[in-house]
Amino acid sequence: MTDLDRIPVHVGIVMDGNGRWARARGLPRLSGHNAGMLAMKEIVKKASALGVRYLTVYAFSTENWKRGAEEVSGIFNLLIVYVDRELAELNANNVRVRILGEYGRLPANAVERLNRSLRTTADNSGMQFNIALNYGSRDEIARGLRAIAADVLAGRLAVSELDEALIADRLYTAGMPDPDLIIRTGGERRLSNFLLWQSAYSEFVFSDVYWPDFSAREFEKAIEEYQGRERRFGGRRQNGR
Ligand code: FPP
Repeated sequence: MTDLDRIPVHVGIVMDGNGRWARARGLPRLSGHNAGMLAMKEIVKKASALGVRYLTVYAFSTENWKRGAEEVSGIFNLLIVYVDRELAELNANNVRVRILGEYGRLPANAVERLNRSLRTTADNSGMQFNIALNYGSRDEIARGLRAIAADVLAGRLAVSELDEALIADRLYTAGMPDPDLIIRTGGERRLSNFLLWQSAYSEFVFSDVYWPDFSAREFEKAIEEYQGRERRFGGRRQNGR
C-alpha cells in the first residue's frame, strides 16, 4: 500500500520506451508518442491526487533534435494537442505548469501554447508540473555558469561567494527542492543528461514497462519501492550501526 504520509515531494520521470512500444505493435513511432502523451496525462493526475508537490517529466532533450524531422515535429504537435485538451483541467486542479529548458527554440505554435499554459496557471498553488523541453542538464549547468561568470566580470559577485546554493539558484529548478525520486521506464538504467546536479541524493526506481503502459498503478508501485528505501544523505543508518 502507498503510504500517503510519505509521498515524495518531488518526482522526476524519464519517460522512455515509446518507440519500442510502437514497434512491438507494428505501429509507427509517433503512435508510441501519442500513447505516451496519454500516459503522461494519467500520471499527472495521479501524482497530483497523491499529493506530489513537484512532478518533472523529461519530454524532449537537447539530444532529441537528432531524430528525424517528422518525429520531432510530431512530438511538438502532440505537445500542442496535450495543452489544448488538458489546460483547462490542469488549471481546475490547481496545477502550475513550468518549463525547464530553452523552449523558445521550439516551433512558434508550440511556444505559444506553452506561454499560454504558463500564464494561465501562474498563480496556482497545487502541484507544480515541470515539463523539461529542449532540456539537457549539462547545457543547464553551462548556462548557469555563464550567468555567474558574467556577474563576476561585472563586479556584482565575488569569486569567494560562489557556493553550491548559488549554482543551484542559476539552474532552471531554482527555488525548487531536489527530486526525492527519479523514475525511468523502458528498461534502460541511466540518467541521460536529466537533472544531473539536482539528483545528487535522489532515489532511482527503474521499471521495465514501456512508458505508454506506465499506469497510475505502476506509478504507485514506484512510490512504494521508494518508500521501502532508507535515505541517509551520506550520514549513518538511523540505528547507528
Ligand atoms: C522516449 O521514448 C520518449 C520521448 C523522447 C518523447 C516523450 C514524449 C511523450 C511522452 C509524448 C509527447 C508529450 C509531450 C508533452 C511532448 P523513445 O522514443 O526514446 O522510446 P524508445 O527508446 O523505445 O525508442
